[in-house]
Amino acid sequence: MATEKTFYLETFGCQMNAHDSEKVIGTLRRQGYRQVESEEEAGLILYNTCSIRDKAEQKVFHRLNDYKRLFKAGKRFGVLGCVAQQEGEKIFERAPHVSLVSGSASYRKLPEMLSRLEAGEHRITGLDDRQTDETFETEFTARQNPYRGYITIIEGCDKFCSYCVVPFTRGKERSRTSTSVLAEARRIGDLGYTEIQLLGQNVNSYRDPEGKRSFAELLAAVGEVPGIRRVRFTTSHPRDFTRDIVEAIDQVPTLCDHVHLPVQSGSARVLRMMAREYTPEWYLERIAWIKSARRTISLTTDIIVGFPGETEEDFIRTMDLLAEVQYDGVFAFKYSARPNTPALVMIDSIPDAEKAKRLQVLLERQREIQRINYSKQIGEVFEVMVEGQNLARGQIAGRSSQNKPVNFTCAQPIAPAPGSYLQVRITGAHPNSLRGEAV
Ligand code: SAH
Ligand code: SF4
Ligand code: F3S
Repeated sequence: MATEKTFYLETFGCQMNAHDSEKVIGTLRRQGYRQVESEEEAGLILYNTCSIRDKAEQKVFHRLNDYKRLFKAGKRFGVLGCVAQQEGEKIFERAPHVSLVSGSASYRKLPEMLSRLEAGEHRITGLDDRQTDETFETEFTARQNPYRGYITIIEGCDKFCSYCVVPFTRGKERSRTSTSVLAEARRIGDLGYTEIQLLGQNVNSYRDPEGKRSFAELLAAVGEVPGIRRVRFTTSHPRDFTRDIVEAIDQVPTLCDHVHLPVQSGSARVLRMMAREYTPEWYLERIAWIKSARRTISLTTDIIVGFPGETEEDFIRTMDLLAEVQYDGVFAFKYSARPNTPALVMIDSIPDAEKAKRLQVLLERQREIQRINYSKQIGEVFEVMVEGQNLARGQIAGRSSQNKPVNFTCAQPIAPAPGSYLQVRITGAHPNSLRGEAV
């Protein structure tokens, strides 16, 4: 008797990885697999991994070690994603119970790799590197988020910032045709989703292989898909941030009031060493475009502290930039030296304690900025999409177009359904969320 094919999949890392997992789950189901909730129940255990910082990578190896004992019970293990691509066959040496190692640029070959796995083959690899021009598209995406439909519009990255593994783990930049992106957007709309998030490590570096639409035009076209009320996009690179993106946001109401524009540092010297290819002035010009839009567009960013050679003076420049831009959110990280990256030759000169101190100083300052920014919204009315409810506190949880969490009360006897939209008056603010009441 044939035994049932089951799999467990755990995802680490960014939204690109989360969405890749939706596609991988769809592909596995198509091959007759059933998803289960624990490693214990599963015949095939998959980790979709992240390598952006050393800690993220170590997590994966800890996890593989923890579950080594399950191997004896006849389970198969697979490592997918960025650590898989980065470490390749070395993973088989470090974790001999692993049978499959595949980077994201090889997922289109998953059906074939799974068949080989089922035939009992060991040490199967999918390690297409920067040579590949192919993208991974499937109509069998198993969407896990009930409200937000993700669409990858561009894969890979050609920027080679000196600290970053992504160009090595995800391969070279390749865009999907705008025709296929729009077809997927319409399918998502037909399924009842009202929010779409366009994804790419460098989403605004999008280049339509058919030459039909620029990124801003594609954004606007997705915003006009029937049923779609909100469109988001991550992550934009300042180098590719053009003014027509702001114009599109101004013209198409469904495009959300939010731009995530990673700056990494406020010091021209550090930006040069990072190979970001812009100066603080150049970056601030893009910020000025965004701030001059007719609607108020919320700004968030990513920052790295303690890059090799970052002086106290450089760090102060970053703090100055925070004060100038007044972001609504900052993801800040301590620099982590990564394999293959050009920054490896620079000495990781800042002691961890100093990195930690800078990180803390920065986050405390940012918390103050957000406390003020968020409290400025008290009294305003926003459209909020309901995401869930906190029964204990009698509150509904949702999100504004600016991507801010809003917790609110609602006088209706029946709580509004997740995915519905309500107008909410803001009555209170915290540094990371708003409070309000439905009007
Ligand atoms: N493609 C996006 C971000 C990709 S990774 C961009 O270019 O903005 C997400 C964030 O992780 C980066 O913005 C950066 O702040 C951080 N990051 C990347 N490599 C890192 C490293 N080696 N050490 C610490 N943080 C890093
Ligand atoms: Fe990494 Fe830079 Fe590419 Fe972003 S743009 S993924 S930070 S190399
Ligand atoms: Fe991590 Fe790869 Fe995303 S390194 S952040 S999972 S692109």
